[in-house]
Amino acid sequence: MLEFIDQELEALKKAGLYRELKVIDRSKIIIFCSNDYLGLANHPKVIKKATGALKKFGAGAGASRLISGNTIIHEELEKKLARFKKREAAIVFPTGYMANLGTISALTNEKDTIIIDRLNHASIIDACRLTKAKFQVYPHKDMATLEKILKRSEIYKKRLIITDSIFSMDGDIAPLPQIVKLAKRYNAITMIDEAHATGVLGQNGRGAEEHFGIEGQIDIVMGTLSKAIGSLGGFVAGSQRLIDYLRNKARNFIYTTALSPASCAAAIAALEIIEAEPKIRQRLWTNVKSLGFKSETPIIPIMIGDTKKTMAISQKLLARGFFISGIRPPTVPRDQSRLRLTITANHSQEEIKCLVSLLQPLIQQ
Ligand SMILES: Cc1ncc(COP(=O)(O)O)c(C=O)c1O
Repeated sequence: MLEFIDQELEALKKAGLYRELKVIDRSKIIIFCSNDYLGLANHPKVIKKATGALKKFGAGAGASRLISGNTIIHEELEKKLARFKKREAAIVFPTGYMANLGTISALTNEKDTIIIDRLNHASIIDACRLTKAKFQVYPHKDMATLEKILKRSEIYKKRLIITDSIFSMDGDIAPLPQIVKLAKRYNAITMIDEAHATGVLGQNGRGAEEHFGIEGQIDIVMGTLSKAIGSLGGFVAGSQRLIDYLRNKARNFIYTTALSPASCAAAIAALEIIEAEPKIRQRLWTNVKSLGFKSETPIIPIMIGDTKKTMAISQKLLARGFFISGIRPPTVPRDQSRLRLTITANHSQEEIKCLVSLLQPLIQQ
């Protein structure tokens, strides 16, 4: 009865799409595909604060936030996130993936429509599949089509536009000022996924709104604690009434164990560092520039096209001590396999130079 599994796995192997886990020895390999953009996952202050919480509260929260899993450390983190994103309130979820699933499914029903960019993250697409709302897709950053869709969507009770602010696999930035303008014109709600922008974009690292000078204009700001914040977890920041609503309606906030206090403490320490030490972010941007690729952000897609060739280059780099993962379908469209290179504040100039000299001949082969 389970032969279909063998067939599926065989098909994946034949197409070069079979996925396996790698354990990377971080003492020997230089990683150029992590989302720990500011290097805060290993920052001594982050580790110290997380260790303190671990000792005080234990390894796990023990229950949902609404049962006995809530601690002062969860509350402190939410207050900090709200202040950082300049919003009235915030709510944390165990992962960013769950923040998207819980929020989008709590906000929409069969009377509504969700309008998303074609390159939005899988967690947004999965959230759309989870709701009964009509889900409509516009080509990547195509504002004319977004407007067309909005025009014909007045029949829906709510229109929710959702976009990644930095696109996770392409590294470009969504045209948020135009999206805000269209949303106002057509009375739509806006939501951004700041997974890769939080801590990275804007003078103070507050994200894409700060980058564009439109702070406070997006209705729902979702983000993760798992990337530049160096920990684990997801969050939503917005008005107090939005957060009260999510606490009551988001099923994967209600029916899951709270984020561990140590993860919350790590995120609090990271936010403090982001606010107090802008030099780390400046170092990140210096590194982005010194890599020499044309890129708006620390995510640099190196387009290869062919899946097997992409994976072979990734293997060759690994053999030389550098890890850049190959990204294949279904994460990216067919024939758009790529190396997803990310740069962090912790990379040295020497490491960057060495990587570039190794990469060039491999790409050109
Ligand atoms: C744009 C985007 N949104 C959401 C997520 C999910 O975040 P997390 O890894 O915290 O679940 C990711 C990360 O993979 C992402 O890239």
